Amino acid sequence: MGRKFSEKFAQWEQEARLRETVVVDHGNAPIIEQNQRQYLNVSSGNYLGMARHSQVIDTVQKALRQYGLSSGGSPLVCGYSTEQEIFARRLAEFLGTESALVVAAGYLAGLAVVPALMSEGDTIYSDSLNHASLIDACRLSKAHVAIYSHGDVDSLEESLRRDTSGHRMIVTDGVFSMDGDVALLPRLMQLAEEYDAWLLADDSHALGVLGEKGGGSVEHFDLHSSRLIFASSLSKGLGIHGGVIAASNEVIQYLKNTARSWIFASALPAAWCAGGTTSLDILENSWAKRQQLWRHSLRFRTRLQQMGYRTIPTTVPEIPIIPWIIGSENDTLRVAEHLKQRSIWSLAIRPPTVPINSSRIRFALSAEHSDQQIDYVLDMIGRANFSAPTD
Ligand SMILES: Cc1ncc(COP(=O)(O)O)c(C=O)c1O
Repeated sequence: MGRKFSEKFAQWEQEARLRETVVVDHGNAPIIEQNQRQYLNVSSGNYLGMARHSQVIDTVQKALRQYGLSSGGSPLVCGYSTEQEIFARRLAEFLGTESALVVAAGYLAGLAVVPALMSEGDTIYSDSLNHASLIDACRLSKAHVAIYSHGDVDSLEESLRRDTSGHRMIVTDGVFSMDGDVALLPRLMQLAEEYDAWLLADDSHALGVLGEKGGGSVEHFDLHSSRLIFASSLSKGLGIHGGVIAASNEVIQYLKNTARSWIFASALPAAWCAGGTTSLDILENSWAKRQQLWRHSLRFRTRLQQMGYRTIPTTVPEIPIIPWIIGSENDTLRVAEHLKQRSIWSLAIRPPTVPINSSRIRFALSAEHSDQQIDYVLDMIGRANFSAPTD
């Protein structure tokens, strides 16, 4: 066994794919620290700064004093608190669905839905660039998984037309986490209606970010259907922790009886639920913050393209995830190191997280960044004049 490990480590090292933990502090802030050095952080999912919002922190502190740390048990035992019930109702209202279920992590949301609703004899249609949590959720169900090319709705329709047996479910990220482009949700919704399928959309990177009130893709595209099941992490736009599934009363009631990642995990603690409710109240009225974030994203994306670097086209350029495609693992690591030497903390993403030859620096911007900070990063990229391949 030891030899297997050392061979793998050597192989990953040689391919520049070895992953190691990086110890940092303030990973959710515009300024991150490592070994007492400060860096400008352009890699965090704290898109709207809610993870450090004083009002949210006050709520959590107060609730911690009142309720303590852990929830005490799984939701069907003794962990489902009043704060969780309030938070779930508020999430459903915010997302415009009948009901919602709070899970202990965003990773567990897809895992709650897919194996509960889909089983042997059913077919899941899954976008090829879906997040790992959705891929794992599909694997856990015993349904047949038909992977369609990223965003290729025509080929998806063709498959839906051909397959007629069992239940069907289309599974997609709303915003793709490594590419920052968006799923054509209105069209997918239409297909779900027409071909009698569920549509599960993971909107982790749009919740709080898109829509006038921050309702995410659902608000942005104005989607309403009893076939739509919405899943999201709560640790990004909301700045809390945990995950949510929002759907019809019937679906949520069914999940409460069948969703193993909800039934068999300790419930999200009351203090975090209380903080989540406060975060939603603030987010709903954070129009100026959202505008600031959208401005940053539009400007950053445009400038990167103007410099001749390769990004990924998106129909919603307000999305704060901006990949700069470089290609090889080694080149990408070199660019990340170059930026780090200029006090910029950016993330080199390599296979297997992304396809081979598409290693990238994945920028994630925040409304907390100032114009000057965004300018500094662009300036440092521009000055270096990397010979990265363009389209
Ligand atoms: C699209 C998507 N879904 C789910 C998750 C998992 O969420 P969490 O970190 O809350 O477990 C992530 C996290 O990065 C994500 O990007």
